[in-house]
Amino acid sequence: MKSEQVNTPKGNILIVDDTPENLHFLANGLTIRGYEVKCAISGSMALLGVADELPDLILLDIRMPEMNGYEVCEYLKANERTREIPVIFLSALNEVSDKIKAFASGGVDYITKPFQMDEVLARIENQLTICRLQKQLQQQNLRLQKLNDELRQSNRELEEFAYIVSHDLQEPLRAVSSFTQLLAEKYQSCLNVEANEYIGFILNGTTRMRQLIKDLLAYSRLGTKGREFQPTDCNIVLENVLMDLQLVIAETDAKLTHEFLPTVMGDSVQLAQLFQNLIINAIKFHRPEVPPSIKISIEAKNGEWLFGVHDNGIGIKARHFERIFQMFKRLHTAANYPGTGMGLAICKKIVERHKGQLWIESELGVGTTFYFTIPNPDWWAKMGN
Ligand SMILES: Nc1ncnc2c1ncn2[C@@H]1O[C@H](COP(=O)(O)OP(=O)(O)OP(=O)(O)O)[C@@H](O)[C@H]1O
Ligand SMILES: [Mg+2]
Repeated sequence: MKSEQVNTPKGNILIVDDTPENLHFLANGLTIRGYEVKCAISGSMALLGVADELPDLILLDIRMPEMNGYEVCEYLKANERTREIPVIFLSALNEVSDKIKAFASGGVDYITKPFQMDEVLARIENQLTICRLQKQLQQQNLRLQKLNDELRQSNRELEEFAYIVSHDLQEPLRAVSSFTQLLAEKYQSCLNVEANEYIGFILNGTTRMRQLIKDLLAYSRLGTKGREFQPTDCNIVLENVLMDLQLVIAETDAKLTHEFLPTVMGDSVQLAQLFQNLIINAIKFHRPEVPPSIKISIEAKNGEWLFGVHDNGIGIKARHFERIFQMFKRLHTAANYPGTGMGLAICKKIVERHKGQLWIESELGVGTTFYFTIPNPDWWAKMGN
């Protein structure tokens, strides 16, 4: 048992004290309990010793001739190599001001003389545990950072891939649909009803595929082709969106009201896409015979703007809340409600690019609210953007 302790020291401790009796007392007490101990009788000797080999912890006397403990500690803390070594001060002084000075110079703890060996050991073990945990935390942080970087990189690659694939699919799809159209126009009279019906299916399929590819392209462009953020007046963004939607608003007899909206740091094109997708959904998923009534609210909350797009539509069951934000996920067939299921995935990505969050609150048969946050411009200023 004893030899095992000698082979694996619990830690390397450097004791710095100009009183030989103190050095002996501490060195003996610590060695017996399995620590490897080095001693120095002055500040300059301690610094020489540290230059040679880094201890896990230093017990440092305050009152010493030439260089006192505070000066030694400040020197250690100013040096990159020795900055992390925990220093526990040893002193006969028991004044609060001395303790404050000890902490101010970089010490982590303070032991007063005469020493109680059990107290010394407890304080050393405490500091070594903190150090160990800090190191573990640093390593875990590094690992997480690395994983995060890898994830970001693979996301970028995936986006590039989706972009290239969807871009390159357009050409052959164009060929399929143009020749099918030609076939329909030129040979309609020579073909029987069934063949013409099949041609119709092909044309429907290609139209739908074109829309899917267009949405996939729009999605993959969000990250790679996004514009730089500028102060953006959301009232103007919304006005433009409503202008584009005026026909569908009139056709559905939709009512839309909004509060005065803020100016945010953002990409005006993407913010317009966000408002447009949410408003179109609010109009599209209205209850039969109930004209859409949509309200856009705004609230300042915890350094962020909280936007709400409220509707009186068909609503969604809580169990679908997560699914609907995934790519191509829909709760209805295209025959009932047109669409590809990319709108909310695009919205989510836009909000995340703006460092915000998007979520839903809804009640089936009553209505739905999509909430999203965008940090206010002060936050961006603090982040140095
Ligand atoms: N305001 C809403 N009220 C009720 N259901 C909604 C609402 N918004 C979205 N949903 C549901 O979430 C699904 C996904 O919405 P999303 O906008 O992603 O796709 P979409 O509108 O079906 O198609 P796209 O937006 O690509 O044209 C919808 O199909 C619908 O089932
Ligand atoms: Mg949609």
